[in-house]
Amino acid sequence: MFEIKAKDNRGRVGVLKTKHGNVKTPALMPVIHPRKQAIDVKKYGADIVITNAYLIYKDEDLKQEAIDKGLHELINFDGPIMTDSGSFQLSVYGDVDITNKEVIEFQELIKTDIGTSLDIPTAPFVTREKAEEDLEITLQRAREAIEYRNSQNMEMKLNSVVQGSTFPDLRRYCADELTKLDADLYPIGAVVPLMESYHYKDLVDVVMNSVAHLPDNKPRHLMGAGHPMIFALAAAMGCDLFDSAAYILYAEDDRLLSTRGTYKLENLQEMPCSCEVCTKYTPDDLRAMDKKERRDLIAIHNLHVSFAELRLVRQAIYEGSLMELVEERCRVHPQLLNAYRQLANYMDDMEKYNPRSKKSAFFFTGPESLYRSEVKRHMNKLREMPKKRDLVILPPSRKPYSKFISGKLGEFYIYGSERELDLEDTDFMVLDIPFGLVPLDIDEVYPLSQNESPKIKDVDSIEFIEDFISEFVEYYDQTLIHSRVIKDLEIGLYNKHSQSDEIRFKKDDLRKIKAIADYQFGVGAGEALFKGNIKIEKSKKTGKIRHIYDKGVIVANMRASDSFLVLSKEGAKRLHNSMPYPENRVVVNEDSVPFARDGKSVFAKFVVDCDENIRSNDEVLIVSEDDELLAYGKALLCAHEMGDFNTGQAVKTRKGMK
Ligand code: GUN
Ligand code: ZN
Repeated sequence: MFEIKAKDNRGRVGVLKTKHGNVKTPALMPVIHPRKQAIDVKKYGADIVITNAYLIYKDEDLKQEAIDKGLHELINFDGPIMTDSGSFQLSVYGDVDITNKEVIEFQELIKTDIGTSLDIPTAPFVTREKAEEDLEITLQRAREAIEYRNSQNMEMKLNSVVQGSTFPDLRRYCADELTKLDADLYPIGAVVPLMESYHYKDLVDVVMNSVAHLPDNKPRHLMGAGHPMIFALAAAMGCDLFDSAAYILYAEDDRLLSTRGTYKLENLQEMPCSCEVCTKYTPDDLRAMDKKERRDLIAIHNLHVSFAELRLVRQAIYEGSLMELVEERCRVHPQLLNAYRQLANYMDDMEKYNPRSKKSAFFFTGPESLYRSEVKRHMNKLREMPKKRDLVILPPSRKPYSKFISGKLGEFYIYGSERELDLEDTDFMVLDIPFGLVPLDIDEVYPLSQNESPKIKDVDSIEFIEDFISEFVEYYDQTLIHSRVIKDLEIGLYNKHSQSDEIRFKKDDLRKIKAIADYQFGVGAGEALFKGNIKIEKSKKTGKIRHIYDKGVIVANMRASDSFLVLSKEGAKRLHNSMPYPENRVVVNEDSVPFARDGKSVFAKFVVDCDENIRSNDEVLIVSEDDELLAYGKALLCAHEMGDFNTGQAVKTRKGMK
């Protein structure tokens, strides 16, 4: 029912499949009022809409018409329709005259595509007792709804809404309990009051604690999120669906949505975008119109900017620039920036879903960029890499560093004891923003040269890097034995005294490919892959390493775009022989052994285990349950997703070992 096409951090582009057609996610569902709808939302980009089953149920005429003709004809929409259950009315009026079972039955009767049980939207910041009490009822009703739907063989898909107010542990508990059910979608509920009061930071806690405990193979809906200002951030946290009553409610109130916030018509000198409304009318034209005409035009503008933003979000996920978009969007309001800073606390979780290589470069847009999962991942990797006796830290220069660093180095820091520096036993790293330290041998690997940052004057950034370096160099002897002041980035941490002026870094291709292999596959991979009579072939045009052979047999290729290694059959064998189970492995069940060996791609439902460090796009080994090497290929899912998905491909096999 839900397939993932592209990913960036926790954001994903997916396809939601329904009887009334497929929907590309992240998607926005305009809220349709069953009686008052004036605008043809499909014309402005809606592939799916949401309406309220309870409002239809309460109105005798609508109810009868919905039963006779079905919901699609009632609201005149032939695509997929989701219905809400009256929970929102419950939260506003305190009571509704329908039971959970009745609302489920009614939604099936009027042929909704996706129905909702009668959850209780507990407000933020209530007492723990209140949140727990409500939550038990919500869970009970979710279970009842699923059981009832299944026992009656109903066709509709079902939402199970995550509640738990602003208690992170209750959100996690609720998500865990709902995951046990056979629900089709997982909305995150009761966030409207947080958004209305600019509590975006709390929204981050609520969403991240919920999604971390929801299955990866089901779409998540951020209920009541209809302002385009929040779409990029919410998508980056793993939300796939949004709904908007905002487009019409704001229009009723003469307010225009934009990714920069909301504009009041009374304050507008200029129209804020280039949609059909903004290019045809001036603010004065709109102000002179009668209320209804003006409302509809503003609603059309609101739909345009909302759908445009979702197209931008999906494009950013495809190209791998979603966080750059989030960083841009979160600068329109201080509370959004606060929220983005809060997200830094969840970067370990984000990292697990983030592909290791992307089409677009990493852009540093401010100190917050230092907390992104790519930086965290690199710093963690460096801590694991084998270290030599001494360390030379070089000042930043042009990227890739190794290309612009000559044999003779002028300005540098050296860590080591006061003994003679042993250049054969020295690590050479460049002081880097935002990655801290970049070893020269791996500096072409994504994103270590595929990134851009300005000269940093920012104190937060420098302190962050200094902290990392001082922690990192602890391993080496702490004394700095040579330094020159580096302009623009004065580290100033260390005691300085001068020594010689010249030091030689010798490029060595074999050392470089071994370092890349260790960085990519784990320590030891370099020695295992590149033993023997290694011959390195470079591109005549670019001078970059392309193919690596041992006695005429290809072991690996180096990909030009990101400098990661792509294994050959021989390379796969060598890696398998040297790295212990389950490192770099995707394990398939007995049934799929012959298919894998034959070079067929691996479907997620056959995966029984895998290395927890696997990320999408990683080169992986495909093995049987007794660790026989069957094939090798490119992972399409990360380790977590491999466990959750039962449909679609998990690994695109390059070759079987047959
Ligand atoms: N619409 C906005 N918030 C909610 C919620 O928490 N539950 C339901 N069912 N609908 C909503
Ligand atoms: Zn416009």
